[in-house]
Amino acid sequence: MGEQIIGRKILRYEQVESTNTLAREFAEQGQAEGLVIAAQEQTAGRGRMGRKWIVPRGTSLQFSVLLRPPLAPQYAPRLSFMAALSVANALARQFNLKAVLKWPNDVLLHEKKVCGILTESSVQGEQLAYAILGVGLNVNYTMSAFPELARFATTVQDVLGEAVDRSSLERTILDELDGYYARIRRGESFLGEYRARLGMLGKRIRVAGNQEILEGIAKDVDKEGALILQTGHKQVKLFAGDVTILKA
Ligand code: BTN
Repeated sequence: MGEQIIGRKILRYEQVESTNTLAREFAEQGQAEGLVIAAQEQTAGRGRMGRKWIVPRGTSLQFSVLLRPPLAPQYAPRLSFMAALSVANALARQFNLKAVLKWPNDVLLHEKKVCGILTESSVQGEQLAYAILGVGLNVNYTMSAFPELARFATTVQDVLGEAVDRSSLERTILDELDGYYARIRRGESFLGEYRARLGMLGKRIRVAGNQEILEGIAKDVDKEGALILQTGHKQVKLFAGDVTILKA
């Protein structure tokens, strides 16, 4: 085992605007990688594609990890994939739950989103100067309080029928992250593991990007993290978007 990097220093806050924003400030100040910023509440939590991330105070896991990975920018999606895999593995280890991943990095339980990941990076020349890996996992509350979300989203409590120990779940996720990060630093790939956890390969999907909506068969995810979509005779490579699996 190498030395632990992720979580060797953890700063905890009651309330922040966004742990990603705060972690970015620490990164700009030159803090070492592995720093975790965790908060009980975010007043301006951010999601992918310009969305908000809103979670009741003190119920969930909301944290960001500062990394300085030896990766070229096009491989940054690996960081999001490792976060999604880490959350899925932690849910399996702690609660025997079988989470499924949805490209690019949502974690689903019973086909509903339980965790979202927002990776933001800063590029310097040909390398990533740093990356901020933000993880938001819905834990101890019920989506029935949010009927407009309950069709698409869930919480660990809703799935298990009871509240759980958030700190041991956090420790397990950080431990998983640290393991994957060691592999990234050794130049290893875990794309096979990621593909195996995806619930959508071979299925008909709709992808809503920033500009357009496409439908086709989800063929694969390539080593730069792009989704390969077969639309008629064409294969399209997508780098962002929201996937819906269409019923056969
Ligand atoms: C998404 O699915 O849209 C991504 C959601 C990411 C939310 C987490 S919570 C901790 C971190 N801080 C943020 O402002 N966002 C991420």
